[in-house]
Amino acid sequence: MVNYIEASTAPPKNTGAIRLYDAQAFEGMRRACQLTARCLDALADIVKPGLLTDEIDRFVFDFGMDHGAYPATLNYRGYTKSTCTSINHVVCHGIPNDKPLRDGDIVNIDVTFVLDGWHGDSSRMYPVGVVKRAAERLLEVTYESLMRGIAAVRPGARTGAIGEAIQTYAEAERCSVVRDFCGHGVGRLFHDSPNILHYGRANEGPELREGMIFTIEPMINLGRPHVKVLADGWTAVTRDRSLSAQYEHTVGVTSDGCEIFTLSPGGLDRPGLPSHNG
Ligand code: MF3
Ligand code: CO
Ligand code: CO
Repeated sequence: MVNYIEASTAPPKNTGAIRLYDAQAFEGMRRACQLTARCLDALADIVKPGLLTDEIDRFVFDFGMDHGAYPATLNYRGYTKSTCTSINHVVCHGIPNDKPLRDGDIVNIDVTFVLDGWHGDSSRMYPVGVVKRAAERLLEVTYESLMRGIAAVRPGARTGAIGEAIQTYAEAERCSVVRDFCGHGVGRLFHDSPNILHYGRANEGPELREGMIFTIEPMINLGRPHVKVLADGWTAVTRDRSLSAQYEHTVGVTSDGCEIFTLSPGGLDRPGLPSHNG
């Protein structure tokens, strides 16, 4: 049994019910998500070989503070950083540290700002210096996987349509879809119902309705789909140490499709050319 509730009257905890948001909420999400997107845009200029992931973390924290926003990951369930930085075979939840990025790395930077109580959650891949062709191809496949998932969003479809679109495409490209992490409802809460699986069948999962807001954030591997979490309790890596990539947007369901709240104002959403200014 799936329950849908009017978000403006619902208690701020995840009860399993799916919130339906109104136009005012969509406006709040637009603002939070655009701030996140602007931060991800700004990061494109500073990511280069030698930069410490702790410097990325500091940049994200300062960007939030400068714009009246709080990084949702800071002190979230014991996580102590303002962003996640996931390099090469790290699937997600990489913890910023004092190690430098190296030429040829691919790094996912995942930012969630809370602005006026609304959560804007998005991540992109950043090539560091010049990356190998296989890595570049993985970024292209992963970005296209996300966009095919988004294209499946419309009222009346089920959440499984998103997963099916992603899995069908990624596997046809001889890549694999991570099963252990999923997209999620987002809005007043950081992680809410429903779960958005990045694999599955179109006839599975709850029906999508106008007013739902959630993330789609496929993690795609060049090798096998299996992951393990390191002893720090957060860092998820591919078991076979193959490269992994992820892109994430926050979307809201409209009458005939969806609105992508986290679109880049600078047109920097898709995998770009490696920066040669390092
Ligand atoms: N931003 C991640 C997501 O897309 C969640 C990170 S939670 C953290 O849902 F604690 F690891 F930061
Ligand atoms: Co997310
Ligand atoms: Co995220």
